[in-house]
Amino acid sequence: MRIVLFGPPGAGKGTQAKRLIDTLKVPQISTGDILRAAKAEGTPMGKKAAEFMDAGKLVPDEVVIGIIDERTQKDDCQSGFMLDGFPRTIPQAEALGAMLKGRDQGIDHVVSLEVDDGVLVQRLTRRRSCPECGAIYHLDFSPPKTEGKCDQEGAALMHRADDQEEAIRERLNVFHGQTSPLKDFYKQAGLLREVDGAGAPDAVFSNVTQALGV
Ligand code: AP5
Repeated sequence: MRIVLFGPPGAGKGTQAKRLIDTLKVPQISTGDILRAAKAEGTPMGKKAAEFMDAGKLVPDEVVIGIIDERTQKDDCQSGFMLDGFPRTIPQAEALGAMLKGRDQGIDHVVSLEVDDGVLVQRLTRRRSCPECGAIYHLDFSPPKTEGKCDQEGAALMHRADDQEEAIRERLNVFHGQTSPLKDFYKQAGLLREVDGAGAPDAVFSNVTQALGV
């Protein structure tokens, strides 16, 4: 199964993708995670991407399209994948369609997590994540067992640079301006599955699996 997890910043794409791995047995491919890893390694691509990410802007299309083209051809993607945070612009969606068509493949479902902006800001300002394993926490809704430390291996949790209120507002503006038009794009293609993403993570997971029919 090849699916796109779609939604604004903080909608729960990463949270739901991590739960879906066990159900779908396909890898999560998060362009945000790949770009943050490149930034942490200090690669030329990571340094370039950091300027855009920290300001809450989109990284140029050609950079992320290249990442997805390469990543989706790896062995672990043979029986499918979950795209988390890609595509985010119409040119990215068109490039994805062309790339998959060239391999006689296509997207099966686009799951759109629907959450109001007020809730998103509350989720993002209090998010913490593990730089080692990628686990996602929320200081109020899903706190770590020990303050500031990952439950898995005890690594110090981080507060993302783009989870400051000003960058969050910019990310939401970018979503509404540049990314939300993709909903119509995928609706016209008959692939859009809109899901209520406002409840607790378990309830949202049940909405997502129902929408996917798994
Ligand atoms: P990216 O890393 O993709 O960030 P995003 O889309 O802004 O999404 P987030 O990771 O912030 O949120 P999420 O939906 O995964 O929510 P999460 O599950 O963590 O992108 C970062 C940047 O990289 C972009 O701004 C851009 O610069 C660049 N980039 C990436 N892809 C790009 C592309 N394709 N093109 C161009 N540039 C690109 O949950 C959030 C919080 O809420 C957590 O604390 C979680 O615990 C909590 N939570 C989740 N679900 C629930 C729930 N149901 N109830 C209560 N709390 C919940």
